[in-house]
Amino acid sequence: MPGQVELGRLKIDWARAHMPVLSSIEQRFAREKPLAGTRVSAVLHVEAKTCVLALALKAGGADLRLAAGNPLSTDDDAVAAVVEAGVPTWARKGESLDEYNAGIRATLDFDPQVIVDDGADLVALAHTSRPDRGPVIGSTEETTAGVNRLRAMERSGALRWPAIAVNDAQMKHLFDNRYGSGQSFLDGLFSATNLLVAGRTCVVAGYGWVGKGVAGLLRGVGADVLVTEVDPVRAIEARLEGFRVRTLLQAAPEADLIVTTTGTVGVVRAEHLRVVKDGCLLANMGHFDVEISKPDLASLAVHRRVVRPSVEEYRFADGRRVFLLGDGRLINLATGQGHPAEIMDLSFALQALSIEYLVRHGRSLAPRVYPVPPELDRAVAEAALPSLEVAIDRPTPEQLRYADSWKEGT
Ligand code: ADE
Repeated sequence: MPGQVELGRLKIDWARAHMPVLSSIEQRFAREKPLAGTRVSAVLHVEAKTCVLALALKAGGADLRLAAGNPLSTDDDAVAAVVEAGVPTWARKGESLDEYNAGIRATLDFDPQVIVDDGADLVALAHTSRPDRGPVIGSTEETTAGVNRLRAMERSGALRWPAIAVNDAQMKHLFDNRYGSGQSFLDGLFSATNLLVAGRTCVVAGYGWVGKGVAGLLRGVGADVLVTEVDPVRAIEARLEGFRVRTLLQAAPEADLIVTTTGTVGVVRAEHLRVVKDGCLLANMGHFDVEISKPDLASLAVHRRVVRPSVEEYRFADGRRVFLLGDGRLINLATGQGHPAEIMDLSFALQALSIEYLVRHGRSLAPRVYPVPPELDRAVAEAALPSLEVAIDRPTPEQLRYADSWKEGT
């Protein structure tokens, strides 16, 4: 049996073999060293695909520190391998909140010039603790929740450096948030429960990109899917995709599974827990573990016990039981292995190119939230075509002239 470092290397090599776009960036980085000497701190879900990104940044010359973006999402084998490869890393699966916070603080003590964030925890900490620290050239943000936080900081005038919203790039949210979340949600659900999904009634709270992916993949494996929304447009979108759309209070009594994908707090609350049926599974796909109210669960429960790894049973006074998966944390990483490598290839290629862009241009940017430059989004799309076995037509000279004539208004 290989040791932990070797196991981690095998996992990273497997991921890299399915991440051709990031691999080609890594090869270019190794030749050109665009990040030479730049102190980079990254707070991400530290698993094999993330280590492929970390090693690409290191190949580009970055002096990199890595810490866990969630206490449950770490792959300890991958950590052992990336540490062995020379990336100091603070991450351990199942670490305490104190350890988790200490890891994030350690990456900040390193005075990073570039911050790579997933949820904006490191950016927030850098702004609140020690605002006197050396200049940060800029940061990149991986996820919707983090971009929302950054925009709030920008609006209040608090943001102190340019931040690139990687999440908002087309090659990120259209595929990672939707298909990556859909598939890795099923991975997490299946490995946590080993239960049948076909024919079960599954309620998806929220129909943003993650909700669309989760609802679509659940339907794909035969679930009867209901959607809940607060936005009338998204609600109609879900309806026209063929899902029943109900309030959560209406949907809860028939749910075998409720999964939250909203990005907000207190979605599944006492009023819903009072009406769910016996045996209902509760899972979260939002970034923070606040969508299923753990305080409400705890106050309604007369008894709690762990019945399988990452499955906690809460029994109520009337005998009904609900099962909370992965402690209400991102289920796809808490009990699953995260998004497929081919999807993280796109997201992390955008990360690598955005970091390179910040090192080149960040010093001349104002402290605002910026989109990924469209030419980088496009370059990742072009580079991904062969591995995704997509062939596209190119506009003919006549079509180009036609498009130009509209631009000129002739
Ligand atoms: N693997 C590494 N980072 C991830 C993320 N943000 N979501 C899903 N899987 C991941």
